[in-house]
Amino acid sequence: VRGRDDAWTPRPVLILAGAATPGSRTRWVADLVTRRLRAAGASDRLWDLAETPLPPRGGGDAAPEAAAVKELRVWAATAGALVWVTPCYHGSYSGVLKNALDHLCVDEIAGKPVGLISVGASLTAVQACEHLRAVARTLGCVCVPTQSVVTGSGHRGDTPSLHTADNRDVIVRIDRMIHELGALAGATAALRGPSRHLPLGHDYERESAC
Ligand SMILES: Cc1cc2nc3c(=O)[nH]c(=O)nc-3n(C[C@H](O)[C@H](O)[C@H](O)COP(=O)(O)O)c2cc1C
Repeated sequence: VRGRDDAWTPRPVLILAGAATPGSRTRWVADLVTRRLRAAGASDRLWDLAETPLPPRGGGDAAPEAAAVKELRVWAATAGALVWVTPCYHGSYSGVLKNALDHLCVDEIAGKPVGLISVGASLTAVQACEHLRAVARTLGCVCVPTQSVVTGSGHRGDTPSLHTADNRDVIVRIDRMIHELGALAGATAALRGPSRHLPLGHDYERESAC
């Protein structure tokens, strides 16, 4: 991967680490993505939902928006691409990641490329990526083709081994994902901005806090 070939710099890539507990394997993988982005010449911003949790998203706009939510929305709006890293829980992505995505508005991220990574005990964690792909589509995002699943049945706090048969190609896949993010960030520029085409097919964001 050559960072200078990629069209998305200088806009940072926003990495969401979607585990609720500090020191998670999800965070370890998010840190790995950060290092690979830097090696590719990209800038990054990491939001760890364990370190900076968000309040539950409710409907409507009655409650004042928390400072952390405002900040995340700015980070999302200014990002050139996103990477969502989630633990796999019961065959899907985490609740805290969904809550964070529910705080975002289509206008902030529509048309931006997204890379998906799930972290689980086994390859069943691939389902979390598949489910996130549907969420990304609803938000108008463009998922890159390469996703990554990091497995390992160790205990909390263990570092996932990149030397197991399942994980051996994780870095190669992350690098390919980063390359695809860069290529698509330029190609999808025309899809961004106010949601003229309403990927949601409904104007409910206008009725809520967005
Ligand atoms: C409630 C719960 C459900 C889980 N369900 C799955 C699952 O369906 N598939 C899987 O591969 N791993 C599953 N796991 C294992 C986690 O995905 C695994 O521990 C992962 O590494 C998350 O770790 P982290 O919180 O340290 O990031 C589950 C763990 C918990 C706590």
